[in-house]
Amino acid sequence: METRAWLSYIPIVLSAFFMASSAWSDTEIDAKEFLSQPKAYVGSEVCRTCHLEHYDAWKRTLHSRMLQDARANKDVIITEIDPEIIKSDLKKIEKKLKVPIDEFYIPKVEDIQYTIGSQWKQRYLVKKDNTLLIAPTQFNAETGRWVNYHEHDWQKRPWLKKCGGCHATGVDLDKNTFVEPGVSCEACHGPGSHHAALPKTEIFKKRATIVNPAKLTAGVAVQICGSCHNRGKSKLVKGAGWPVGYKPGKALTAYYNETSFAEGDVKHVYANEFSKGHHQQYIDWKQSAHYREGVTCLSCHFVHQLGNPVVRGQTKESSGDKTCMNCHTLVNPVGAHAVHSTAKCVACHMPRIAKSAESGDIHSHVFVALLPKDTLENPKIPNSCQTCHKHKNEDLKDLQKRYDELTKRGAKVEVSSVSGE
Ligand code: HEC
Ligand code: HEC
Ligand code: HEC
Ligand code: HEC
Ligand code: HEC
Ligand code: HEC
Ligand code: HEC
Ligand code: HEC
Repeated sequence: METRAWLSYIPIVLSAFFMASSAWSDTEIDAKEFLSQPKAYVGSEVCRTCHLEHYDAWKRTLHSRMLQDARANKDVIITEIDPEIIKSDLKKIEKKLKVPIDEFYIPKVEDIQYTIGSQWKQRYLVKKDNTLLIAPTQFNAETGRWVNYHEHDWQKRPWLKKCGGCHATGVDLDKNTFVEPGVSCEACHGPGSHHAALPKTEIFKKRATIVNPAKLTAGVAVQICGSCHNRGKSKLVKGAGWPVGYKPGKALTAYYNETSFAEGDVKHVYANEFSKGHHQQYIDWKQSAHYREGVTCLSCHFVHQLGNPVVRGQTKESSGDKTCMNCHTLVNPVGAHAVHSTAKCVACHMPRIAKSAESGDIHSHVFVALLPKDTLENPKIPNSCQTCHKHKNEDLKDLQKRYDELTKRGAKVEVSSVSGE
C-alpha cells in the first residue's frame, strides 16, 4: 500500500472512535471488536487526546522532528535548494566524487517528500517507483556547505529498509509503509491501539496495555534507546540497518548485531572501540562504568518533560557539566583534576570525537578521558586534551610528560573540589 494512504488510515478510524469517546462511559461503544485485533500503531495525535502535556513536551524535542513532511510544509527544508550553490560546493570536493558534477542528481523542491534531520545535517527523501530514496546531496547545517552522499548508488538504497525504523514509527517492511514520520510516542511505548481504545476509567487495564519504560528493568528499558542510538545490522532482514521486529520491552540482542572495530568496522569505530560514527551512544555507553553501575541514558537525559530548558542534548540540567555534578558532587583532586580549575567535565570525559555532519560534532559516551598517550600510541585515536591544549602534535609528548609527573608524584595540588560554573 502507498505510504501516504496508510498513514492516514489508522488515525481516521481511531479519530472516529474518539469523537464518541468523550461520552464513552454512558454510551455503550463496543471496543471489543477493536481490542480483538492485534495491537497496532495509532499515531501521536491519538495519544494527544489524553496526554496533552507529554505531547507538548515531546513536540519540543528533536525526536518529533526527525522526519518531516515537506509536501505539507516547505519550511521544514532548512536551506535553499539552489543547483548553482550545490554544484559550486561540490566543485570544492570534486576529487572525492564518484559521479561527474553535471550528472549529479539534485532534487527539485517539489520532488522532496520528506526531510531527514535538521540539527547537524539535512538529507532529502524523493520517490521513485513508489520507493523512498535518499537524494545524494546533504546540507551540513553548522558549516552551511553541501556535500555528496552515496551519489553513485543512491537509487539502490531504499530508505525504509536502510534507515526507516530509526527515523519513523510503525515501519512495516512487507507493506512498504510507516504510520508516522519521526520518533513518536509508540517508538518508545510500543503500539498503542489497545491502550487507546480502552475507556479512561479502566486505569489498570490501560496501564497494562502500554509500555512504561519506568516500570521495566533498567537494562531492558535502556534498550529502547539502544534500538536507535546504535549501529549494526538486523538479524532478521538482510540489508536492514535497524533492528527489524524489535519492540519496546524486548531484548535487543534477539534482533540486532552491533558493529565494532574488532568485527572490522574501521569506518565507524576507533581501534579502542570508541565511536567515530554518530548514533552510537549505546555502544559507547555499554563500555562505561555508568553502564556497570546502572546509570543509564535516562539518568542524564529527559525525553518529554514540560518546564525543562530546551537545551541541546536534552540533558536534565541546563548544561552537561551540571548534569554530572548532580551525582559527582566531589571529584578527587588528583591527576588531571588537580591541575585544572575547570569544571568542564564534558570537555575531558565526553570529547567530541564522533561525526554526524562534520567530524567532531558528536560527544563520546564512554566517559573516559582520553590522554595524550592514547594518541601517541595510535595517531588515529584522538584525545580529550587538545580541545584546549591546541598545540601541534609534537607537544603531545611533552603534555603527557607533564601529566605523568603530576600523577606519579601523586601530587596533591591544593584544590578542594572542582567548582561549578
Ligand atoms: C482515552 C485516553 C487515553 C489515550 C487515547 C491514551 N492514553 Fe495513555 N493513559 C491513559 C490513562 C487514563 C492512563 C492511566 C493513568 C494513570 O496511571 O493514572 C494512561 C497511562 C499511560 C502510560 C503509563 C502506563 C503505566 O503503566 O504507568 C503511558 C506510557 C501511556 N499512557 C502512553 C500512551 C500512549 C503512547 C498513547 C497513544 C498511543 C496513549 N497513552 C493514549 C489514557 C489514555
Ligand atoms: C524517546 C522515547 C519516548 C518517546 C518518543 C515518548 N516517550 Fe513517553 N516515556 C518515555 C520514558 C523513558 C518514560 C518513563 C518516564 C521517564 O523516565 O521519563 C515515559 C513515560 C511516559 C508516561 C508515563 C507518565 C510519566 O510521565 O512518567 C506517559 C503517559 C508517556 N510517556 C506518554 C508519552 C506520549 C503521549 C508520547 C508522545 C507524545 C511519548 N510518551 C513519547 C519515553 C518516550
Ligand atoms: C526510534 C528511534 C529512537 C528511539 C527509540 C530513541 N531515539 Fe533518541 N533520537 C533518535 C533520532 C533519529 C534522533 C535525532 C533527531 C533529530 O536530529 O531530528 C534522536 C535524538 C536524541 C537526542 C539528541 C537531542 C539533541 O538535542 O541533540 C537525545 C538526547 C536522545 N535522542 C535520547 C534518547 C533516549 C534517552 C532514548 C530512550 C528513552 C531515545 N533517544 C530513544 C532516535 C531514537
Ligand atoms: C540504528 C538506527 C539508525 C539508522 C539505521 C540510521 N539512523 Fe540516522 N540517526 C539515528 C540517530 C539515533 C540519530 C541522532 C543521534 C546521533 O546523530 O548521534 C540519527 C541522525 C541522523 C541525521 C542527522 C539529524 C540531525 O538533526 O542533524 C540524519 C540526516 C540521518 N540520521 C540520516 C540517516 C540516513 C539517511 C540513514 C540510512 C542510510 C540513517 N540515518 C540510518 C539513528 C539511525
Ligand atoms: C552520564 C550522563 C549521560 C549518560 C549516561 C548518557 N548521556 Fe547522552 N549526553 C550527555 C551529555 C552531557 C551530552 C552533551 C550535552 C551537551 O551538548 O553539552 C550528551 C549528548 C547526547 C546526544 C546528542 C549528541 C551529542 O553527542 O552531542 C545524544 C543523542 C545522546 N546523548 C544520547 C544518549 C543515549 C542514547 C544514552 C544511553 C545509551 C546516553 N546519551 C547516555 C550525558 C549522558
Ligand atoms: C545519576 C548519577 C550520575 C550522573 C548524572 C553521572 N555519573 Fe558518573 N558515575 C556515577 C556512578 C554511580 C559511578 C560509579 C561509581 C564511581 O566510580 O563513583 C560513576 C562513575 C564515573 C566515572 C568513573 C569511571 C571509571 O572508570 O571509574 C567517571 C569518569 C564519571 N562517572 C564521569 C561522569 C561524567 C563526565 C558525568 C556527566 C556527563 C557523569 N559521570 C554523570 C553516577 C553518575
Ligand atoms: C577545557 C579545557 C581543557 C581541557 C579539555 C584540558 N585542559 Fe589541561 N589545562 C587547561 C587550563 C585552562 C590549564 C591551566 C590551569 C587551569 O587554569 O586550570 C591547564 C593546565 C594543564 C596542565 C598543567 C600546566 C601545564 O601545562 O603543565 C597539564 C599538565 C594539563 N593541563 C594537562 C591536560 C591533559 C592531560 C588533558 C587531557 C586529559 C587536559 N589538560 C585537558 C585547560 C584544559
Ligand atoms: C582536564 C580534564 C578533566 C576534567 C576537566 C575533568 N576530569 Fe575527571 N578525570 C580526568 C582524567 C584524566 C581521569 C583519570 C581517569 C580517566 O582517564 O578517565 C579522571 C577521572 C575521573 C573520575 C574517576 C576517578 C575519581 O576521581 O573518582 C571521575 C568520577 C571523574 N573524573 C569525574 C569528573 C567530573 C564529574 C568532572 C567535572 C566536575 C571531571 N571529572 C572533570 C580528566 C578530567
